[in-house]
Amino acid sequence: MNLRTSYLGVNFENPFILASAPPVATGDMIRRAFDEGWSGAVIKTLCCDSVRNFPNRFAVLRSGNRITGFENLELLSEQTPDDWYRDITAIKADYPNRPIIGSIMGDACSPDKWISLAKGCQDAGCDILELNFSCPHGYPERGRGAAIGQNADYAAQITRWLVECNELSIPLVPKLTSAVANIQHIGEELALAGAHGFCAINTIPSFFGFDLKTLRPRPDIGGMTSYGGYSGPGIKPIALRAVSALCKSPGLPVMACGGITNGFDAAEFMLLGAPLVQLATEVMLHGFGMVNKMQLELREFMEWHQFDCPDDFIGHCLEQVTDYGKLPAGLHSIAVLQPDRCTHCGACTIACRDGGYQAISCSDELPKIDPAKCVGCSLCSLVCPVGAIKMSNIDKKS
Ligand SMILES: Cc1cc2nc3c(=O)[nH]c(=O)nc-3n(C[C@H](O)[C@H](O)[C@H](O)COP(=O)(O)O)c2cc1C
Repeated sequence: MNLRTSYLGVNFENPFILASAPPVATGDMIRRAFDEGWSGAVIKTLCCDSVRNFPNRFAVLRSGNRITGFENLELLSEQTPDDWYRDITAIKADYPNRPIIGSIMGDACSPDKWISLAKGCQDAGCDILELNFSCPHGYPERGRGAAIGQNADYAAQITRWLVECNELSIPLVPKLTSAVANIQHIGEELALAGAHGFCAINTIPSFFGFDLKTLRPRPDIGGMTSYGGYSGPGIKPIALRAVSALCKSPGLPVMACGGITNGFDAAEFMLLGAPLVQLATEVMLHGFGMVNKMQLELREFMEWHQFDCPDDFIGHCLEQVTDYGKLPAGLHSIAVLQPDRCTHCGACTIACRDGGYQAISCSDELPKIDPAKCVGCSLCSLVCPVGAIKMSNIDKKS
């Protein structure tokens, strides 16, 4: 069993790479990540301006002790492009088999800056180039980042500038935002403009509210706040949707990013068709070493199904995601109780009574499901904490 994969002709030892974010803020950090087992890294996005970040620019959502959501108001790389080019060349010399993905951002009216940053990354040794069309804060108000990714014409124009300059041979991969009405439309326009693949998704526009004890906002930047980018486990379903949509159309290869916390999450994105997955927030919270556990988890998943390598299952489940109108018509299902498992907690009865179809009663301690009233919505089976209710498909005629 091996974890090797490839993306747009570039080989990776495993599907786990670092997304553009603080863990790849410097060349030294990228080196340490490679030493731990990450197979590649996207650099923190470069731009031509000098960057100064606000302190206190993060906020979190917690569920118990676990951080389930993360918000940031961070800008792009504080390192100059020239410093990055030097770092990239030196890292490539020491780690020739670890691809480095450049990441750049310019504006919608200056081809020269995009082209010069792209050439700088390519000449320094980058294997692939991400085009940051998706940062949701700090830049859209200046016509950059997500302001570009939300406008198919601007995004396609910039892609065309880079394709048509005829000086770039590395794959060009726009990084997209999910904060659009139709990500497939944006993807299709970019495919026509010459993009080679996509990275999806960046952080999602958000506001993390107030601390009710102090009445100060989150994040608290001198008593004020602004809208930031939401990342971490909570955004995984949004990323899955975006990745599946892009894998279907235009069908260019996608690097998946958003809410991935372990090897099993990675497997889900790979089943949709993503050969590589990127992580940011989870690495910020748990460090580079987590990649070893991710590899074990992905191997465990592969063992369940006797897959020998990622190519055996990349895209395996994409066809199971379809339009609402194409879902199997005439399917009937009913809730069935497994009495020996039931702990009599009452969760199913309450949920069915106030959020369902009043099909469950609880007269003699055990919940009783009335098949005539059950419409098979599945709410009871989802709220049951011990898995005592299973959904069973039925033939309505019998
Ligand atoms: C603090 C922070 C800084 C980030 N900076 C960048 C950036 O410079 N360029 C970029 O393309 N994405 C940036 N991102 C977005 C991440 O690359 C990634 O798309 C997003 O966080 C979702 O992945 P995650 O849930 O694994 O964090 C940043 C994310 C965080 C949390």
